[in-house]
Amino acid sequence: MTARTSDIENAAGVLRAGGLVAFPTETVYGLGADAENPAAVARVFQVKGRPPSHPLIVHIAGAQHLGDWVEDVPETARLLAERFWPGPLTLVLRRGPRVPLETTGGLETVAVRVPDHPVALALLSAFGGGVAAPSANRFGSVSPTTANHVRTELGDAVDFVLDGGPCEVGVESTIVDATGEIPSVLRPGGVTREDLEAVLGFPLAVPATSRIRVPGQHPSHYAPRARVVLVEPEKVVAEAEFAQELGHQVGVLLPPSFADAPVKAHAVLAVPGSMAAYARGLYGFLRELDQRGCDLIVASLPVEEGLGLAIANRLRRAAGPRPSA
Ligand code: TXA
Ligand code: MG
Repeated sequence: MTARTSDIENAAGVLRAGGLVAFPTETVYGLGADAENPAAVARVFQVKGRPPSHPLIVHIAGAQHLGDWVEDVPETARLLAERFWPGPLTLVLRRGPRVPLETTGGLETVAVRVPDHPVALALLSAFGGGVAAPSANRFGSVSPTTANHVRTELGDAVDFVLDGGPCEVGVESTIVDATGEIPSVLRPGGVTREDLEAVLGFPLAVPATSRIRVPGQHPSHYAPRARVVLVEPEKVVAEAEFAQELGHQVGVLLPPSFADAPVKAHAVLAVPGSMAAYARGLYGFLRELDQRGCDLIVASLPVEEGLGLAIANRLRRAAGPRPSA
């Protein structure tokens, strides 16, 4: 099911009236509000159960509009926007006067991106302004990658849900702090570090040097209801069977190299070998294991390069601060 022109018009009207619209992007579904309307933005925080100090990303229709939302566009930001927009890259820059502090969680910087999804772009064009949108899930839980995930999790709290099919990328955008001379990655995501550095022609700064808060990076984010335990790939089967014997309802994300191993567990999902397919499926897998009644999920981290870095980041956050076995 894909949104029709009339749906887009209706959704834009809802945004203009200060309402909330869930919409598809290439990464995950967003929960959108008029970025310039503090009351609408306040409702986003309320529906998500998200503390108001956590900034939202402003989604815009094209790179040519970036200057309308930020104080200035440094050369590196221009280069990255030109190369990666529309796409899963978010640029953090100095806030322009158009962006209320409610949208930036009180920060003097603003996160901006142009999503690469026809429905999102049609909505942004029809609306004409910026759409502030976090992922359309409750604070701390797994991001939605289908319209049904949104309906199940947020139901009537959203005024309009635009259905654009399953998200292609499956993990959130890469957030780059482009306020300094040398950009740094605040959150790994759909655009890889390798791709960014190839375009820049120099290495990115290490994230630790940035003082900007990224709440999405706090422990126990992107988390399913079931507890997530991370172990080495060769220990996944033994760990799962041990926990199942102890009485847990164990869900397993079986690494590709062990795809054929028989596992005595409650639910077993074989992880795709391709990182793009794994990223696309990750949040759906976590939701499915929750749905099937698992209370514990055993998984291992992929190799942390390319998209594997974003997947590993989300799995670590899902596992949270608890000691992993
Ligand atoms: O792919 C995505 O980025 C999705 C889709 C809907 O665009 N959005 C998304 O939004 O993941 P959210 O709110 O779930 O995560 C946005 C992250 C948060 O961790 C927030 O702290 C960070 O972006 N952020 C927003 N504004 C920021 C700023 N000015 N400085 C630093 N981090 C910022
Ligand atoms: Mg989120």
